[in-house]
This record gives sequence, structure tokens and C-alpha cells, in this order.
Amino acid sequence: MKRNIIHISDVHFGDPTHSDELVYNLTSQIEEENPDMVIFAGDLTYGGFISEYNNAKNFIEELKSITETHVVPGNHDARNVGLEHFKNLIGDTHFVKIDKKCKLAIIGLDSSRPDIDDGNIGSFQLEWLKAELDKIPKNFGKMVIFHHHLIPIPQSGRERNILLDSGDIIQLLIDEGVNIVLGGHKHVPNVVTLEGIAVINSGTATTRRLRGTGHPCYSQLILNDVDMEANLIFTESGIKKNVANYSFVETDSGVKIHSYNHEAAFRIKPVI
Ligand SMILES: [Fe+2]
Ligand SMILES: [Fe+2]
Repeated sequence: MKRNIIHISDVHFGDPTHSDELVYNLTSQIEEENPDMVIFAGDLTYGGFISEYNNAKNFIEELKSITETHVVPGNHDARNVGLEHFKNLIGDTHFVKIDKKCKLAIIGLDSSRPDIDDGNIGSFQLEWLKAELDKIPKNFGKMVIFHHHLIPIPQSGRERNILLDSGDIIQLLIDEGVNIVLGGHKHVPNVVTLEGIAVINSGTATTRRLRGTGHPCYSQLILNDVDMEANLIFTESGIKKNVANYSFVETDSGVKIHSYNHEAAFRIKPVI
């Protein structure tokens, strides 16, 4: 069963570098792509304020009119008690979606903490995640989404704000046989494979809060039975670049990555 998943992050309504033109490009490109699902990995807003959330809500409603859309919060969304607006206007800060036809489980987590940029999953969510993963049939792929980066990202400056409990979550993801992790936060796209987990970070889709020679961009995953293709799409031009390919295999202990090839961010050349 084929699935076309668009993975965006760091749209940042309210940020001085946020661009309505890029939002228009993004929604037009998604409409044209007609994906099965959009995953928005956090930082909807800049300061967590109601006006920013209202704009984010309109944007997400537009996405939902195109396709199924799931959202988790980022650190900016938790500023100024912003998660109250998230819960009122956007929905739950964590979710479970089971795609029976595609044999894929998708779990979203809240890695934000009020008024700090550091990420943290926390013991409560770790236990909840383990309980949810334990329920998933062995022949299902497992995808987990949270905003902060799990491991350092090349070409993103001094390391900071990595998940405070990244060691604990990495261990849990490995032990539970998670296949794919999606995030954002650093505004720099990256793909890396860690102990059989495809860790994919989206760049910022709609701001010019960029590092070095980066460009606004987002990710696309094409799942097709036992294969997955990861593409980078540049929001300014719509140009698409394949950055990773994976093949999966079903084993007695669950679905695993069989082989892969990919480029890390420092080899992902900007395309405009
Ligand atoms: Fe951000
Ligand atoms: Fe962030």
C-alpha cells in the first residue's frame, strides 16, 4: 500500500522572517502533491500568542481541507502559556494514529516545556509511548514524531536544545523497534540512520530564519510496501530532491530497516 506523507515544521506564524508568500507556495505545492497525510512537527507560532495561533489554525484548517493532518507543538508554541491555545484551537499535544491498510503506526509527542527552548519528553510520556508501542502488531511499521532533534544536526551551529532526555528516548525507540522518527526545530534538514531508525528532520518550511546557505524546505516520505523514499522539497521553487532511500523487512521481532542510502545535511546542496 502506497502512502505519500508530507512532513513540515517551523512555520512560525508571528516570526519577523515568516513569509506569507512561502505559506502560499507551501499550501499550493501540498495541494498539487495531494498527499495521504501531512505531519506538522511543531513551531506553529513565534511567541505562542493567540493571534499567531489563529493564523496557524487557519493554515492547518486549509491543510485539513486537502488531507488528513496531524500536529505536535514546538518550543515556541509553549511560550507565554501558549499550549492553552494549542489545546483549544489545534487539538491534543500528543496522538496515536493507526493506519491499518499501510500497516503503519504513527505516534506524536509533545517535547516542549513552558518558556524554555530545551526539549524534554519526560517520564510520563516515555511510559505512555512504551505502552502504546507495545500494543502495535509486530508486522506494523512504527513512526514517532516530536519537535526537538534527537541527535545533533550538522551545519546548525552550536549544539543546544537537544532533548534533555535524548538518551532515554533513544534507548526506548531502539528497544521498541521504532523505524522512523520525524522532527524539526533546527531549521536545517537532515537524515541519519541510527541503530535501525531513520531519523528525519524537516527544515523550516516558511521562514527565512536559516543557517548558512540553507533555503526554506520540508520533507516528503513515499512509502511503498517495503520501501521508503525521502525527498527534500524547497518551498521557494518547489524543486524536489531525493535524499534517502530505505528498504524494510519483516522479521520475527518486527519490521526493520534492511538497507538504506542517504545524504546528511552537509551534503544536501541548496537548490533554488
Ligand atoms: Fe523553529
Ligand atoms: Fe523549535
